[in-house]
Amino acid sequence: MKLFLDTASVKEIRTMWEIGILDGVTTNPSLVAKEGRKFEDLLREICALGVPSVSAEVVGTTTDQMLVEGRRLREIHPSIYVKTPMTPDGLRATKILAAEGTRVNMTLVFSANQALLAAKVGAAYVSPFIGRLDDQGQDGMELIREIVQIYRNYHFPTQVLVASVRHPIHVMDAAKLGADIATMPYAVMEKLAQHPLTDIGLARFLKDWEKVPK
Ligand code: G3P
Repeated sequence: MKLFLDTASVKEIRTMWEIGILDGVTTNPSLVAKEGRKFEDLLREICALGVPSVSAEVVGTTTDQMLVEGRRLREIHPSIYVKTPMTPDGLRATKILAAEGTRVNMTLVFSANQALLAAKVGAAYVSPFIGRLDDQGQDGMELIREIVQIYRNYHFPTQVLVASVRHPIHVMDAAKLGADIATMPYAVMEKLAQHPLTDIGLARFLKDWEKVPK
């Protein structure tokens, strides 16, 4: 299973990249706005770290606008995946971009039928937002189960990228269901490595080590 950071912070990405547990990055307009920097400059800096998959979202709402933006974004670096919204215009743009060889990540997916359509137009990734479903009282992880099953039934190559992840249990459950990727905030990725018994155990080993004759 691949682990992505859902952030546009170069500092956060560099930290996880240097630890060696990062497989990719997803950005969205809200995350980019937090950084207060030009989008293309951020993308170039993230890609220059060597991150092999960096999703960059279009903001146009018509197919033509998405095509212009998507073609420009993909030229920035070979690691760029173009993110398009799950709308009829987004589906049309995805089909054209995918046919041109661009890897597309279809975002804002909240139902299994939307995910089926993303696969049919040739999206490389589909991004179901599980946290936002949980927030409104719907089981987000159930959607992942449905999408994984549908893609397996028909051998769709589209990868399931679990998005809107809020805590480590989301990551563990997504992994148990066989999702291809989970993208998460920095704080969630940090927690994956943490356990209080690890800290207590390490402190005890170091204390006992002091008693070993040197
Ligand atoms: O990047 C898309 C998605 O992961 C956003 O998550 O926390 O804003 O629902 P969130």
